[in-house]
Amino acid sequence: MTTRSLLKKKLEGKKITMVSTYDYLSAKLCRQVGIDCILVGDSLGMVFQGLDTTLPVTIEEIIYHTKAVKRGAGDMFVIADMPFMSYQTGLEEAVRNCGRVIKEAGANAVKLEGGREIAELVHRLVSIGIPVVGHVGFTPQSIHVLGGYRVVGRLEEEERKLKEDFQALEQAGAFMVVLESVPKNLSKEITQNSKAITIGIGAGPHCDGQVLVFYDLVGLVEDIKPKFVKRYVEGADIFREALRRFKEDVEKGVFPSEEESYG
Ligand code: KIV
Repeated sequence: MTTRSLLKKKLEGKKITMVSTYDYLSAKLCRQVGIDCILVGDSLGMVFQGLDTTLPVTIEEIIYHTKAVKRGAGDMFVIADMPFMSYQTGLEEAVRNCGRVIKEAGANAVKLEGGREIAELVHRLVSIGIPVVGHVGFTPQSIHVLGGYRVVGRLEEEERKLKEDFQALEQAGAFMVVLESVPKNLSKEITQNSKAITIGIGAGPHCDGQVLVFYDLVGLVEDIKPKFVKRYVEGADIFREALRRFKEDVEKGVFPSEEESYG
């Protein structure tokens, strides 16, 4: 997958699949079933590290996880999520950090949250050869300004701003934009009028593609279940059962058996 083949899918009306994940084994599973692209999301702060928000995630952590994902992803298209304060403090520092995830971690593109305020950066990155994925609607790095997890774009003023932000990203050269927690009719209108690929999460069925977090879709995240998450398997139940059986076997002395022992 490349930016060109992803854009071709949009033009052909074929849906694009993206999974947000952070490790070698899950990336390998995504590759085996033909998922189109992987996002090394800064949601790793909450899902992998157990933090309350994504804000403390560092650029070093994104590089570490992107390297792990790349080993499992093979030639899949891997997008690295730029963490909070790695691209907000100035153009030069932002370009340097985005360059690091491409150069050191092997990412194929970077994802940035925001609209008009990052358009200049998006333009600069694209002009030096770094593909950019935008992210509008609910943007978790702005949780304190947005005042908690919620749908963005229901109010007239928010809808106008969202459309303008999307347009600014598209004009600056973003080839793909994530729409998070956006009313479905708004994402439909944006998708129909855009050249950039739209990827929805909580944005209804009309986007060009969909993204879910791996640990959500396999049912390992139990504490929070936003409306837009679909669990395709109850992974936590399956894993708990395996752990219970391991504990029981060890306590009963039936593991390891002859089969699992060296002569
Ligand atoms: O961090 C993440 O995993 C994301 C996706 C949910 C879009 O930003």
